[in-house]
Amino acid sequence: MNKENNGSTPSFTSKIGLVMAAVGSAVGLGNIWKFPYVTGENGGGAFLLVYLACVFLFGLPLLMTEFIVGKHSRKSVYGAFQSIRKNRRWQWLSWSCLIATVLVMSFYFMVTGWCLSYLVDAIAGTISSTEDLSAHFANLSINTSRVLFFCSITVFITALVLWFDVNKGIERLSKILMPLLLVMMFIMAVKVLMLPNSNIGMRFFFETDFSKITPQVILSAMGQCFFSLSIGFGALVTYGAYMPERQNILATSAQVVVLDTLVAVLAGVIVFPAVFAFGLDPAEGPQLVFVVLPSVFEQMSMSRFSSVLFFSLLCIAAITSIISLMEIVIAFISDLGARIKHPINRHKAVVITIAICLISSTLCVMSVCGTPDWLKIAGHDLFECFDAVTSYFLLPLNAFGMALFIGWFVPKQVIEKELHVRPRSLNSTAVSTFRLVIRYLVPIAIAAIFLKEFV
Ligand code: PFF
Repeated sequence: MNKENNGSTPSFTSKIGLVMAAVGSAVGLGNIWKFPYVTGENGGGAFLLVYLACVFLFGLPLLMTEFIVGKHSRKSVYGAFQSIRKNRRWQWLSWSCLIATVLVMSFYFMVTGWCLSYLVDAIAGTISSTEDLSAHFANLSINTSRVLFFCSITVFITALVLWFDVNKGIERLSKILMPLLLVMMFIMAVKVLMLPNSNIGMRFFFETDFSKITPQVILSAMGQCFFSLSIGFGALVTYGAYMPERQNILATSAQVVVLDTLVAVLAGVIVFPAVFAFGLDPAEGPQLVFVVLPSVFEQMSMSRFSSVLFFSLLCIAAITSIISLMEIVIAFISDLGARIKHPINRHKAVVITIAICLISSTLCVMSVCGTPDWLKIAGHDLFECFDAVTSYFLLPLNAFGMALFIGWFVPKQVIEKELHVRPRSLNSTAVSTFRLVIRYLVPIAIAAIFLKEFV
């Protein structure tokens, strides 16, 4: 991203730059840390099948929706809906996106802190499969000062990137590091597949037992799909606002969907065979990858180097996602300031966003570490609560709202204008199909899944 116009609006100068930033936002802890444990908790292959169906049904049209809203309005998620409809009736959607972003940010920092701590352990050579890896993770997760320390380092690094506006450097860096992460994951998958009993893990991940497809599994898969593709936060509305005029929205969205899904499936191919080879439980929960991966590295040549490289790449993937989460809040605050006639420049917005991150992530870490006791809601820590509220409620709600907005309240000509970008323009059948899917299929399916689980 670089600065153009009046010096306060970041924009992308190249099409590939925007694709990389959107992929950087999508590919993160959601693919490598969250996808395997949610799949493990929800029955393996059954979950994978429903997840892929959600990616196909919701992922592509909703990514396109967010990009269209951002590109047409050239506003952050705060002003986008209102600028297209010229009334304030859709303001609730902007605030709902902001709340989802802040809730996710609070635990995203914490998990990135865990990854940084594992990176330091990998460098020091203090994790090995001979020790009890579950105990290693358990000790970390209740060590308030250590987690807060690494969490603050994450805040500090992202603050530097945003303050000095070096996103462009990050984009360039991710052009090299993302493919490196993919190559590394391929090598790990090959190693893992050579372990005894790995075929049991592959069957667990790829064989569908239809009896395991319950309303809860479908709701979890939908929430995971939105989380992983960064849908329902307004991240892609924000990036859409920075999109070059001639960017092809369908092609960009398809690239994001394919790459994001590839990384998630690859993570499953690494984790599940290893889980069964090492006699672990696929339903371990959020610690799953932290318990499994150190044993996988032991199987690799140059195990210490491999684990340092992997955790470094994972931390970078997490940080690029955090930056896009923070960018939503920064752009929101700047637009809000302009609206209430209290101009807030980018640096001030960065400071406010960092303060919000520090407070919310500290509360989350303290709640998970168990001190003080009152930082729990009905016996659940804030991480569990924030995760459940966003995945099961806010993200489906926001996606539902966006589908209704673009399907029923945005003039057809706007969609045609944004999708008919030359040279590779979409024909009118494709545009009509998109409208049909986003008007009927997406909102009805989201409402049906939601009502089936909760009513
Ligand atoms: N999609 C990211 C992941 O899978 O880790 C999470 C995320 C990042 C969500 C950025 C939203 C966002 F704006």
